[in-house]
Amino acid sequence: MSADAPIGVFDSGIGGLSVLRALRAALPGEDFVYLADTAHAPYGERGDAFVADRSLAVARQLHDRHGIKAMVVACNTATAAAIAPLRQAWPALPLVGVEPALKPAAAQTRTGRVGVMATRGTLGSTRFRALRESLAHRVTYVQQPCDGLAEAVEQDDAMKIIALCSVYTGAMGRFGIQNGDIDTLVLGCTHYPFATGVLRGLVGPEVQLVETGEPVARQTQRLLSNAGLLCGRPRGRHSLLATGPSEGLQAAAARWLPPQA
Ligand code: DGL
Repeated sequence: MSADAPIGVFDSGIGGLSVLRALRAALPGEDFVYLADTAHAPYGERGDAFVADRSLAVARQLHDRHGIKAMVVACNTATAAAIAPLRQAWPALPLVGVEPALKPAAAQTRTGRVGVMATRGTLGSTRFRALRESLAHRVTYVQQPCDGLAEAVEQDDAMKIIALCSVYTGAMGRFGIQNGDIDTLVLGCTHYPFATGVLRGLVGPEVQLVETGEPVARQTQRLLSNAGLLCGRPRGRHSLLATGPSEGLQAAAARWLPPQA
């Protein structure tokens, strides 16, 4: 494996751009190949077997066609369903997954009530249940499956994003910093950071929103450094690919990513 090779990043669609943004900021000298599985998005309500099959296919494309030196699974649903088979398929490849940031949220909450928005697939997974149970003695997690929200973000459908976010936050209970309020909200799907403006308006200014881009970028940096695979070039580039329609991906990248030098 060469330090000059790119890092592969994938998601069902545009959500992983929230992770790519953090990766680019933390690792400015690296090249990235981002692959959105838009022909099969969204993953969240599809079931484990489907998501695992798609994750393996997308990872194979990144590995075989682009000679990647590391891979970031920039999707909570894919990580929950497929991180183990992915590790098995490429045991020598540095691999980083994404999972809802329950641990940082547990460290930050004052009221002890943490909201978790994620896909049905993520919340129903054994992996998520184990994570939640390992921290449950300290905190109450109010979890909310957000059917349709990743798709609305994918379609950039502002009215639908507002409607769904208001139903889902409404169902979770009261937000704020008083006793009994949810004071910390975990965005457990990489699409949801793109709805931050709407969510902030609904939960108020005092609630902490927690996402995973930065910790994932730090972990990627650590793994590359340990493997002697950090690239020394001054400025890297990213390319954006999709298995299906790519207009939404290009538009989202133009809106959410800083321009390439
Ligand atoms: N962005 C993904 C996640 O983090 C999946 C959303 C979807 O495809 O439903 O879970």
